[in-house]
Amino acid sequence: MKIRVLGSGAGGGFPQWNCNCNNCQRMRHNAMNGKARTQSSIAVSSDNKNWLLINASPDIRAQLEAFPAIQPKHGLRDTGIKAVMLIDSQIDHTTGLLMLREGKPLDIYCSDMVKQDLSTGFPVFTMLSHYCTVNHHPVPIDGSSFTIPAIADLRFYTQALKSKAPPYSPHRHDPHDGDNIGVIIEQISTGKKVFYSPGLGEIEPHVMEAMQTVDCLLVDGTFWTNDEMVTLGISHKKARDIGHLPQSGEGGMIEVLNGVEKARKILIHINNTNPILDENSEPRKQLDAAGIEVAYDGLEIDL
Ligand code: MLT
Ligand code: MN
Ligand code: ZN
Repeated sequence: MKIRVLGSGAGGGFPQWNCNCNNCQRMRHNAMNGKARTQSSIAVSSDNKNWLLINASPDIRAQLEAFPAIQPKHGLRDTGIKAVMLIDSQIDHTTGLLMLREGKPLDIYCSDMVKQDLSTGFPVFTMLSHYCTVNHHPVPIDGSSFTIPAIADLRFYTQALKSKAPPYSPHRHDPHDGDNIGVIIEQISTGKKVFYSPGLGEIEPHVMEAMQTVDCLLVDGTFWTNDEMVTLGISHKKARDIGHLPQSGEGGMIEVLNGVEKARKILIHINNTNPILDENSEPRKQLDAAGIEVAYDGLEIDL
């Protein structure tokens, strides 16, 4: 199985268009050892030809242009994207669907809750239906498995987890199972597995179990501290309030990952305020020491 990180940033990307925080400013002025990042999306394939797009970011156009394996190969209109999976209905994960409107019928795999958000608070499905057919395939939220016909040799296990529905969701303050999911992707022929969860607010027992069984983790790397945006004076929102477990501190992601035995550990969905974006920073050294990697745009994982 091949996993391509199309976008490793959180909402806003890095640097963010209007942000003058220490990170964004230094990045813009070439004064940081770091990498710019587009917004959150990966693609996965077992044959390097037929791809499942997981999340569709506002930056999708540039992400696809940077990735020849997914580009048109035959005939006048073509794509390597055979289906799309959405793990929630956040702007950074769904706006790119609008950019796919010239396509054939879109096969979109997401929970009923996400479908509801994308038909009401942010009616992307309704809008798209005026351009192309949207075939919604509901995904399980109890961890049971399914396959996607056009994506050979991969099996998916999707399960509800605790993060947050977006501000425009009818469930923002009334959480429902399926507002956010995590996915385990397994290559059937090899048994290799990856767990992908860019929004992870709490490590429930089933999440820890998933983390222990896979070969690779791509998990929430949004914030270093819970009050990162508050301290910077950017927002009153704390990491945990918006469904993201911070990396540092007690009960943080580093501590969680220290308890994981076999998997390769990679953080993804990095917010532009996060000090780990600076590859010379102290926090980054702490990740290195813990054997935790930080995803970047264009990273390819072969499992
Ligand atoms: C999130 O994951 O919390 C979102 O990226 C926030 C946003 O889109 O602004
Ligand atoms: Mn996000
Ligand atoms: Zn910034």
